[in-house]
Amino acid sequence: MEMLMFDTQQELDAYAAQLFINTVKEKPNAVLGLATGSTPIGIYDKMVESYKENKVSFKEVTTFNLDEYVGITPENDQSYAYYMNKHLFSHIDIPAAQTHLPNGMAPDMEGESARYDAMLESQPVDIQLLGLGHNGHIGFNEPDVNLSGGTHAVKLKKETREANARFFASMDEVPEYAITMGVGSILKANTIVLAVRGSDKAEIVKEALTGPITTSVPASLLQTHARVIVLLDREAGRMLV
Ligand code: F6R
Repeated sequence: MEMLMFDTQQELDAYAAQLFINTVKEKPNAVLGLATGSTPIGIYDKMVESYKENKVSFKEVTTFNLDEYVGITPENDQSYAYYMNKHLFSHIDIPAAQTHLPNGMAPDMEGESARYDAMLESQPVDIQLLGLGHNGHIGFNEPDVNLSGGTHAVKLKKETREANARFFASMDEVPEYAITMGVGSILKANTIVLAVRGSDKAEIVKEALTGPITTSVPASLLQTHARVIVLLDREAGRMLV
């Protein structure tokens, strides 16, 4: 694992964005694995900035997002589809047909999971962006005795719904289910970029990166991957030094 610590959020965002931009420059039809949440927003801003400065084009790029809430339409401003359009897709030259998220409105979650996995199988992810949940989740792979390899529907843990409640008008509106890429699919990416900010994540960062590899901390499985780049701010990394 390569680990880098940054003094400011701006530096972390710029570095992370550059890893994705470099991938696209080297391979214009690269497949990018993307995440939502608060951590990627600044990273996407920097990618948009580079596009606007004509430093990179996303015309041939394909993207796969990690997850989506179940029961929320893409037009709903709480959906991850809406988030991706707002923060990235609508600002760059990627054709909409090349951007993929699991369909949280699909009538049959097993069928939707199989469809998503088949696409991932035929277009393997070159570089995957990940954030880290306070309970060690990656995507919406929550701590459990068993973890699913492929895409699947999950019941969100109370702590995850509470952490995400800040984006909703009330706790009642936070969806109870989501559909997420599995840990197995995530680990198939050629390169994984784990970006984590904030003092409140320091403990789980230490556990995930230096603790035992266990399904009760899904991010700890990243220790088994050959090419993970961990980007931390000083607060998130404070227990590692
Ligand atoms: C979002 C996702 C989640 C988040 C995690 C951290 O697509 O997969 O695992 O990355 O919950 O969220 P933030 O960045 O809001 O702290």
